[in-house]
Amino acid sequence: METAQPTEKPQKGEKLYEGKAKIVYATGDPSLVIQYFKDDASAFNAKKKGTIDQKGVMNNFIASRIFEFLTEHGIKTHYVEKLSDREMLIKKVAIIPVEVVVRNRVAGSLAKRMGMPEGTDLKRSILEFYYKDDALDDPMINSDHIRAFSLATDKEIEQIREQAMKINSLLYEMFKKTGVELIDFKLEFGRAGGGLLLADEISPDTCRLWDSKTGEKLDKDRFRFDLGKVEESYREIVKRMGGQ
Ligand code: TMP
Repeated sequence: METAQPTEKPQKGEKLYEGKAKIVYATGDPSLVIQYFKDDASAFNAKKKGTIDQKGVMNNFIASRIFEFLTEHGIKTHYVEKLSDREMLIKKVAIIPVEVVVRNRVAGSLAKRMGMPEGTDLKRSILEFYYKDDALDDPMINSDHIRAFSLATDKEIEQIREQAMKINSLLYEMFKKTGVELIDFKLEFGRAGGGLLLADEISPDTCRLWDSKTGEKLDKDRFRFDLGKVEESYREIVKRMGGQ
């Protein structure tokens, strides 16, 4: 009789890439990599830098929970499993160089662009595309640019739109149950095995999260604008999602 083998922890291999908030390591399996979450924080395209104590641990917890929740609801993601406090096993993808932002309320660069106060209601959610290029400060683009520069196919753009709006509905409701309003967030998608997968992370680094009752900001805007209580706000999101 065959006995179930304990699943082996993947071995961390060479460093493949180091970004502002994460490091990616190879594993023994070429289709899998390890995403390591750092405490380093940056804003305004790395013009502002700092660290947020325990951010890596908190973002790994939050992002893992969110990927598990989205997977349960039919979204295909690069997430495989949480390996440790700061490590997540993910499928290796080729990232599409387009950042996808979904907005439910006016904030951040939209407030600036439209000359509207933060918090202004929107009649409907907005989906925006940005060209992922630090040297150019991630300029805003539209689907014509994506097609003209062959950044993604028509089919991929359609899938990205559909997935992003579905993710928005799912996460909006998920956060609402914890007394948090999802104001806006950024997504990245990647290609693997001929399909499209949600990639990168979803965390207070990549979302705006406001307390539903008080409107208090519980996300990276506290770091961006020196609002204080940065770690405490990330910790508050962890706690509301059932962590410590
Ligand atoms: P924005 O209002 O600055 O355009 O940001 C919209 C959302 O996207 C916000 O939740 C923060 C997130 N975001 C990132 O995750 N990375 C980025 O580089 C930028 C500019 C925004």
